[in-house]
Amino acid sequence: MVDELRTGPPGTAGPRAGDAVGEVPRVGYALGEAPRVGDAFGELMRAALAERAGRGPRPTYAGRVPRPVIEIVERDDGFINGVPAARYLAGPAEWYDWERRALDRCDGHVLDVGAGAGRVALALQDRGAQVTALDISPGTVEVAAQLGVRDTVCTTVDDHARSGRRYDTFAFFGNNLGLLESRQRAPVLLAALAAQARPGARIVAQGTDPYGTTDPAHLAYHQHNRDRGRLPGQLRIRSRYEGLATPWFDYLLCSVEELDQLVHDSPWRIGTVDAADAPIYVAELVLR
Ligand SMILES: C[S@@+](CC[C@H](N)C(=O)[O-])C[C@H]1O[C@@H](n2cnc3c(N)ncnc32)[C@H](O)[C@@H]1O
Repeated sequence: MVDELRTGPPGTAGPRAGDAVGEVPRVGYALGEAPRVGDAFGELMRAALAERAGRGPRPTYAGRVPRPVIEIVERDDGFINGVPAARYLAGPAEWYDWERRALDRCDGHVLDVGAGAGRVALALQDRGAQVTALDISPGTVEVAAQLGVRDTVCTTVDDHARSGRRYDTFAFFGNNLGLLESRQRAPVLLAALAAQARPGARIVAQGTDPYGTTDPAHLAYHQHNRDRGRLPGQLRIRSRYEGLATPWFDYLLCSVEELDQLVHDSPWRIGTVDAADAPIYVAELVLR
């Protein structure tokens, strides 16, 4: 069964001896206007850094007992899911096999899109690769830099296209094929990537086929989307952390057949698909 609101691999790291423990100022609280819209994902990453690496104050019960840092994802039908945030800081040894296989597909200068805390960028740096980590969350980019990612940019793919920089691989890990968002957004994002692609460039993107689910809540959501003229797996979600929420955004789960239709009129075509772990897959798109 596909867990539709799980947007990346599970974490396996827990608290370590010597972790800093103390009262943490509550994030984003303002009575009467909760949740406040802000960098919820960045604050989540700061807390995950404190939990995993002991840097900064970490959340506790009663100011004494370390509390697990959980990513909360809320869907617009009220469905809520939570997964440990430590996964965003895990090294390749803790990754899923499909992620390690996807890493092997990244070469040349890599743009890690929606890089999060930089686990993929760090793994590539360790291999001696040139990598730029791009994310829209300022707090997340700060955490990636603190963890050692040398080249970070806090911007959108669209704005970065104007930087004049060019890449050989665009990496979309942690289910980030979802950043295609919708039928309307996908061609715009694909064109922005093509504008900063070197000859022979590839997109290496992990996605999830939404039709693997048998969960009635997800099946009802698919139908609700069809009724609204949206792709069935077009999730409308936001991340929550304490008193903060990101703005609502679309995150697309699509089948390989739907992906093929989305890229049809773009500068990209599907090259290969690693579907050994279906319904999760890694698609490699190549320039036409
Ligand atoms: C599911 S996390 C994946 C993080 C990372 N790729 C990984 O696998 O650990 C999604 C990341 O994408 C970022 N993000 C969301 N929308 C974005 C956008 N439009 N442009 C760039 N980054 C975005 C979020 O801030 C978050 O860090």
